[in-house]
Amino acid sequence: MPSKRSVLSGAPLAGALLFLAGFFVSPTQAQPAAPASAARCVACHGANGNSVIPTFPSLAGQPKVFLENHLVLIREGMRDIPAMKGQLDGLSDKELGALATYFSAQTPAAPRTTPQPETFERGKVIAKNMLCASCHESNYAGRDQMPRLAAQHETYLRDVMKQFRDHPAPGRDTVMSASLHGLKDADLADLAHYLAHLK
Ligand code: HEC
Ligand code: HEC
Repeated sequence: MPSKRSVLSGAPLAGALLFLAGFFVSPTQAQPAAPASAARCVACHGANGNSVIPTFPSLAGQPKVFLENHLVLIREGMRDIPAMKGQLDGLSDKELGALATYFSAQTPAAPRTTPQPETFERGKVIAKNMLCASCHESNYAGRDQMPRLAAQHETYLRDVMKQFRDHPAPGRDTVMSASLHGLKDADLADLAHYLAHLK
């Protein structure tokens, strides 16, 4: 499939028009339509991928590559998520790609709670010392295979970091487990509080 870049360079005028059109269409019009299979996800991951369940991750605004990778891993059973058993059955790579495109284009909801200033500050310092932004980007919006952490549920972030540190699950990136080496539970709680309150 040609990349967007090559399509545009092959048709400079159309490319320029598309580029300009991007400024004038409202975000809702610019967003890809939800594939039919996205209806299966709402109960757990929320409308538009903004989960309202603290232990379930939001998908809105996650990098497309991260979503695509994990959808394949989950469908193949390589990342074992009991709650998602059967949810991706029968979906082709192309359909998983459409789900990834759709959820990555959704706007993440703003943090739902107010930060506790001291905990937030402690988390910020740990994140800085541990160089978390070197992979997750300075705004924690993620990139490519590195997930967005900003405004993710605090409980999910804390649980998933404990998992990475204590029992790195099959299908999970070992580089990430190594990044949490030596951090105590209290440090993970501070980190989760900080990241969950970033916009
Ligand atoms: C019955 C509930 C449920 C349904 C339905 C469900 N999921 Fe999930 N999903 C979960 C849970 C719980 C997790 C987190 C598991 C963990 O703690 O690692 C998860 C994790 C994920 C992840 C990894 C996110 C991350 O940040 O690591 C992706 C991607 C995902 N789901 C996509 C989907 C898509 C797309 C659908 C619809 C086709 C869907 N899920 C349907 C419960 C569900
Ligand atoms: C060397 C790069 C790297 C560094 C440094 C790093 N991470 Fe990660 N992180 C990743 C990758 C890659 C993933 C995706 C893991 C996967 O696909 O299994 C990830 C996943 C995560 C997740 C799971 C998110 C989700 O939605 O499932 C959390 C939480 C997280 N990182 C927090 C942190 C924190 C906090 C730090 C600093 C202490 C940190 N990371 C440092 C690369 C990194």
